[in-house]
Amino acid sequence: MMAASVLALVLSLLLAIACWSHEPAGIGCHLHSFNVTIKRDPGGSCHSTHTLQACVGYCESSAFPSKYSVLRASGFKHNITSVSQCCAISKMQKVKVQLRCGGSRPETMELFTAKACQCDMCRLSRY
Ligand SMILES: *[C@@H]1O[C@H](CO)[C@@H](O)[C@H](O)[C@H]1NC(C)=O
Ligand SMILES: *[C@@H]1O[C@H](CO)[C@@H](O)[C@H](O)[C@H]1NC(C)=O
Repeated sequence: MMAASVLALVLSLLLAIACWSHEPAGIGCHLHSFNVTIKRDPGGSCHSTHTLQACVGYCESSAFPSKYSVLRASGFKHNITSVSQCCAISKMQKVKVQLRCGGSRPETMELFTAKACQCDMCRLSRY
């Protein structure tokens, strides 16, 4: 009786963890692995692939009818007030990778990878 209820508790905890770990795919802003291939020569015979992390997901945005003070100050043009956030990288880390090309000595390069994500101000430009 006792053992059965402990087992049931453990099972329901495990199920809760399993469900929780599936949830991030849809909601929120989370770390996401992707592979990059680094080529050193134009022919591409010397290359290596590394797994890095990005932040991917969903953050809240909203649009409200503007407050009357905003309406009046803008001559009734600014009639919608929008707020939005983007999935952003809150912590980055440098990783050193080695690229070995033929007989030459290995070359070390530094790449950036995401360590933590959060919904934050949108930065629209990529470059
Ligand atoms: C990245 O590459 C590794 C090894 O080749 C592979 O197992 C993994 O599935 C790849 N990951 C992604 C996100 O493509
Ligand atoms: C809100 O303002 C824009 C111009 O600033 C106007 O074109 C639009 O019709 C307005 N919307 C409403 C619902 O009045």
